[in-house]
Amino acid sequence: MTATSTLARLADIRIIPVITIDDAAKASDVAAALLAGGIACGEITLRTPDGLAGVAAISDVVGFVGGAGTVITVDQVDRCVDAGAQFLVCPGFDDEVVERAQFHDIAILPGVATATEIQRAMKAGLDVVKFFPADRLGGLDTIKALAAPLADVGFVPSGGVNPTNIVEYLAHPAIFAVSGSWMATRAAIATGDFDSIERLSRTASGLAAGAK
Ligand code: 3PG
Repeated sequence: MTATSTLARLADIRIIPVITIDDAAKASDVAAALLAGGIACGEITLRTPDGLAGVAAISDVVGFVGGAGTVITVDQVDRCVDAGAQFLVCPGFDDEVVERAQFHDIAILPGVATATEIQRAMKAGLDVVKFFPADRLGGLDTIKALAAPLADVGFVPSGGVNPTNIVEYLAHPAIFAVSGSWMATRAAIATGDFDSIERLSRTASGLAAGAK
């Protein structure tokens, strides 16, 4: 997939689960549970030793758009691409990381918190950014204020998104998609509670469908 085609898929799905995994052997079951609940994508963070192996595992799940999160270095970009990641998510904005992703033609969602960082992302040719940490930065009200002058950018709020605010976020035209960990928590994954992951995915996808 190209960066453009992956972004089109993510724009359609509208929810990007953030998955932090301690056992890569569970990754494909997490992806399958999210998929069964109606969410056909997810990012596995590189915050644990098994993260990269988890990215590789979900890249084999048919119909699932598997990404990597917490991508901070150029070397990680290369390794995630080698592992089969279809998109990359970063906590912040780094020109070299973005350039490397563009070299591979893989979709990248760099984190931004200010208008300055959004302008840097635009200058790099991006029109979708992650807004992180969304709740701490003022949530949708702040996004509305930023989107007024920067109307060509799509935002992916991450941090504090949950079933109580997802509809409000997704109903706003500046929101490209939302991201969060509530559907596939580290604890649920650790205990193998894939039923709850599927149930929370179904609830979230239903809410997203209602917000269209
Ligand atoms: C993160 O930092 O892991 C993401 O922004 C998700 O945040 P959340 O756990 O508040 O959903």
